[in-house]
Amino acid sequence: MSNESVRPAATEFSNPNLRVMYSQEVIAARIAELGREIAADYAGKELVLVGVLKGSCVFLADLMRAIDLPLTIDFMSVSSYKDGTVSSGDVEILKDLSNPIRGKHVLVVEDIVDTGLTLTRLLEILGSRGADSIRLATFLDKPEPRIKKDLKIDYIGFTIPNEFVVGYGLDAAGRYRNLPFIGVVIDPSVI
Ligand code: IMP
Ligand code: MG
Repeated sequence: MSNESVRPAATEFSNPNLRVMYSQEVIAARIAELGREIAADYAGKELVLVGVLKGSCVFLADLMRAIDLPLTIDFMSVSSYKDGTVSSGDVEILKDLSNPIRGKHVLVVEDIVDTGLTLTRLLEILGSRGADSIRLATFLDKPEPRIKKDLKIDYIGFTIPNEFVVGYGLDAAGRYRNLPFIGVVIDPSVI
């Protein structure tokens, strides 16, 4: 079969509808810094990283390899009920932790904190389980739409303006999680 009529393969990473906000190199440098900071803070403690599926999977994979300490990982999956376009703050646990966190130091790992409703509820749920400490690391902090103003975030990769971003685990309708950078969809109508 001739290849002559075959169009070039469409590529996702050089999609012209994406503007790069943080490159792969910039992200790697920041994760290395965060890992060093976390390793210093948790030295000698029993650390459990709790990834919130699915968005945090890429951040968690990179962050854990930047933390030079003995640690374990676990995952939770939650769904926020949306009241129209606004997150209502009701959270349903779709997948709970595999192991107890009693006596452990828990670091919840998120992709992005937006309104803060999901995380606030998640921290309430985990707060009743006897952990020695529970803190929060997010790759991105988008403070402008924050409803839960008192949500304390202990580790932040980058603070971003109020734009919808994709890549590095973050999706738009399930797509773009595999981008190695953080980008902005230029024309959302052609998602
Ligand atoms: P909230 O803080 O309860 O509003 O919910 C945060 C969740 O909304 C995140 O975990 C993401 O799943 C999603 N989210 C918020 N902002 C963005 C964005 O800019 N891109 C992709 N997902 C986002
Ligand atoms: Mg999420």
